[in-house]
Amino acid sequence: MQLDARALNIRSMVEPDRVHRLCYTDPDIFQREMDLIHERTWIYVGHESQVKKPGDYWTTFIGRQPVIMVRGTDHKVHVLHNRCPHRGAMLCPDHHGNAGKVFRCTYHAWQFHLDGTLESLPIPKGYEGTRLTADNPDANIKPVARVESYRGFVFANLSTEGPGLLTHLGRTKAAFDDMCDRAPEGEVEVVATCFRMVQKSNWKLFLENQIDGVHPAVVHESTGKAATEVERKYEKRTGKKPPLSYHYITAFNVPIEKFGELQTTGHPRGHCTLEGYMGLRPKDPDTLEYEKAMHKHYGKQRTEEILGVNLHHVLIYPCLSVQPPLQQLRAVRPLAVDRTLTEIWHFRLKGAPEAIYRRALDYYYLVNAPSTMINADDLDNFWRCHEGLRHEGGDWVSFHRNAGQDPVVDGITRSVVGSSEAPMRNMFKAWAQYLSDEN
Ligand code: FES
Ligand SMILES: [Fe+2]
Repeated sequence: MQLDARALNIRSMVEPDRVHRLCYTDPDIFQREMDLIHERTWIYVGHESQVKKPGDYWTTFIGRQPVIMVRGTDHKVHVLHNRCPHRGAMLCPDHHGNAGKVFRCTYHAWQFHLDGTLESLPIPKGYEGTRLTADNPDANIKPVARVESYRGFVFANLSTEGPGLLTHLGRTKAAFDDMCDRAPEGEVEVVATCFRMVQKSNWKLFLENQIDGVHPAVVHESTGKAATEVERKYEKRTGKKPPLSYHYITAFNVPIEKFGELQTTGHPRGHCTLEGYMGLRPKDPDTLEYEKAMHKHYGKQRTEEILGVNLHHVLIYPCLSVQPPLQQLRAVRPLAVDRTLTEIWHFRLKGAPEAIYRRALDYYYLVNAPSTMINADDLDNFWRCHEGLRHEGGDWVSFHRNAGQDPVVDGITRSVVGSSEAPMRNMFKAWAQYLSDEN
């Protein structure tokens, strides 16, 4: 298939129940995704608590563009392109740091206020009569087109067009409400830094896997079974139930049909949710102390409402997988058609006992960290999928399971069973819309 034909026929590559393999493997389509999805919609940049003091910054990418998130002297969070307007030098090559009162370019010492505006030139003379006047925005570090945050989670958009953040998020803003409401003080704070992991596959395979209700019983079966054996031995040795952290892994040891009991939901713009995965309300002293702190801040009824929410995964298309009850998220940063970086971030619930933080930290280390057996088995399958799709053993990827059977009400698709491939169909429906340049 030639590029022009593909450009005209992106919709023909996405059918309601199958998609063409080139959607994952074609480098030109990848560039088009960057142009029309990642660089034209809301992308998660970071959390406000990463930049507490003026001058604090973190760097990341929006699509292909390196950016800096920085706390200004005005205490606002700014997101700037990571490029000096003089001759283009990258201003902050580190992941994070503190710039002091100004950004000072290492090449010719142009200096900029923390909001990106020019502060001073080392040799101010010589510009008379040129176009580079002090009030010319070309002398400033370019800000991204739009920055908005919701409950401390900062998103940026390289395009001036399209809906605002809250309209874009729609009902999936519940990811941040659920995470923050679980904090007795109603806010979360980021934990120092993140794990970074590069997988050898297209970025869409990561998002699909997050909400794939069938794969855990297959991919993670061996780990789940081994953990169950360890749990059994623990109980025999101690006569007690093991800590909750054991359950994080043994939860994978279930028959494949079990995941059919989950609920997935497809939202507009490609967002998806997965509900009802595992209960996290044991009656141990730590949990009871936490519930006491929640009662103090919210009262009993509101506490029950908050803790009764069971949103295991919220996918905010195309950039984020949030796990609100475990206070963690994974930010997806595509590097190339076959390389994807994920950042795995973790948060503390403000006002909650330390033990509640440690409990979620166990999940972070046991399930989401790059070194876990859970993650390793997922990574292997991402690579296998990408390798298979690169070759010519067939042109189509099947999303037929329960196709046409999931009820749709007001543009929201509720899966008829948790094993339905409705989330993948929902994401690709949005993908085709973005790439067809219709939104
Ligand atoms: S490239 Fe930045 S001051 Fe010259
Ligand atoms: Fe998995």
